[in-house]
Amino acid sequence: MDQQLHAELSALDRAYTMHPSTHLAQFARGEAPNRIMVGGQGVYVEDNTGKCSLDGFAGLYCVNIGYGRQEVAEAIAHQAQQLAYYHAYVGHSHEPLIRLSERIVRQAGMGMQRVYYGLSGSDANETNIKLVWYYNNILGRPQKKKIISRQRGYHGSGLMTGSLTGLPVFHNAFDLPLDRVLHTICPHYYWNAQEGETEEEFSERCAADLERLILAEGAETIAAFIAEPVMGTGGIIPPPKGYWEAIQPILQKYEVLLIADEVVTAFGRTGRYFGSHTYNIQPDLITIAKGLTSAYLPLSGVIVGEKVWKVLEQGTDQLGALGHGWTYSAHPVCVAAAHANLDIVEREDLTGNAREVGAYLQAQLREQFADHPLVGDVRGVGLLAALEFVADKKAKQRFATTQGIGAKVSAACLQEGLIARAMPHGDILGLAPPLIITRDEVDLVVSMVKRAVDQVYSSL
Ligand SMILES: Cc1ncc(COP(=O)(O)O)c(C=O)c1O
Repeated sequence: MDQQLHAELSALDRAYTMHPSTHLAQFARGEAPNRIMVGGQGVYVEDNTGKCSLDGFAGLYCVNIGYGRQEVAEAIAHQAQQLAYYHAYVGHSHEPLIRLSERIVRQAGMGMQRVYYGLSGSDANETNIKLVWYYNNILGRPQKKKIISRQRGYHGSGLMTGSLTGLPVFHNAFDLPLDRVLHTICPHYYWNAQEGETEEEFSERCAADLERLILAEGAETIAAFIAEPVMGTGGIIPPPKGYWEAIQPILQKYEVLLIADEVVTAFGRTGRYFGSHTYNIQPDLITIAKGLTSAYLPLSGVIVGEKVWKVLEQGTDQLGALGHGWTYSAHPVCVAAAHANLDIVEREDLTGNAREVGAYLQAQLREQFADHPLVGDVRGVGLLAALEFVADKKAKQRFATTQGIGAKVSAACLQEGLIARAMPHGDILGLAPPLIITRDEVDLVVSMVKRAVDQVYSSL
């Protein structure tokens, strides 16, 4: 693309588009970067200057099957010609939808019963919260409505879901969090464990903290606990050993429903089909989105477990049809994309690849960075990994936020030809490549990260 056209497009973008998670004023003034993407193939994306980057974050950890998969494009085109749209209200259906629901429920196991569809992780979590409130009203427990999430958890950026998200940047000046939302301790062993505390002891303390919060508020007021099996946007934080084993009995003890937000982890990323399988979690509700279609089209879902499903049936027997619906719920073209995507995930055993190549990525990162003076913590599971940068490794001291070290390393990665995400909270570099990534490509990723980290370190 010629320079003139690029300049014209960039000026138009800055003049007319309001981008998510962007410094609006800097962007409008031309002070913040503007990258215009034109194509993608495999693990690579290309911008309109001809620069190719290895996408080490799969878009926003969603393009699990990689870019440019013709069969997904063809499935989308075919469905658009066959039946571009029909709604799913009052029992209307179509064969791809019927088969997708059965497929998801079967793959999930864990006593799951039904799937309700949306278009984003945020709207699916909004549905979850409505279902939880409905559930307790039907059970005659109108006080039991508060939802506990975790500091640094990420559950979307709607009104309720933005409230559940435990990151201040999603609350500031938005009058969030709303009432009925509480946050408990983030299970970040590196920062939050006490001197000499083992992972198991720390997990027990997290569970004790949760129990204390439930009791302080009154168990009769606590409806649900929502959590990602592995924390994502809050910093890619796998649970410490024993975490889910310690948390779940507390929830059961006080009849608190468990919502597993698997928007990032479902469909293979942790090396099992669901993150709940990896960590032996028994959720009552599961949120799915990104990996369901690998983002070829938007589609999300709430998978409803047995306990909640029975009460929803009972509720509609009492009150009539459920007063909840989206125009685009189970959109046929998105459902077709989901089938084509899941066909690839299964045929190419991308879950197995996430497990095997993921283990290789984790090992390589540890080898390269465990002793690096800039890197305090190397962590991850499957094809989800993070490096956390510290000013003083021995004293475990953070950089001042104004130094923006995470952002600097991410920018240096981009110079090298790698997209790796500066996570929004802390100096953390996140990696979540497409699940099709090979060992050779992992070698490339790690070598680019190494050069970027060394470069930022030597510039300090
Ligand atoms: C765990 C989790 N839940 C919910 C969401 C929100 O999804 P969406 O951006 O599609 O609304 C995200 C997005 O990254 C997420 O990571």
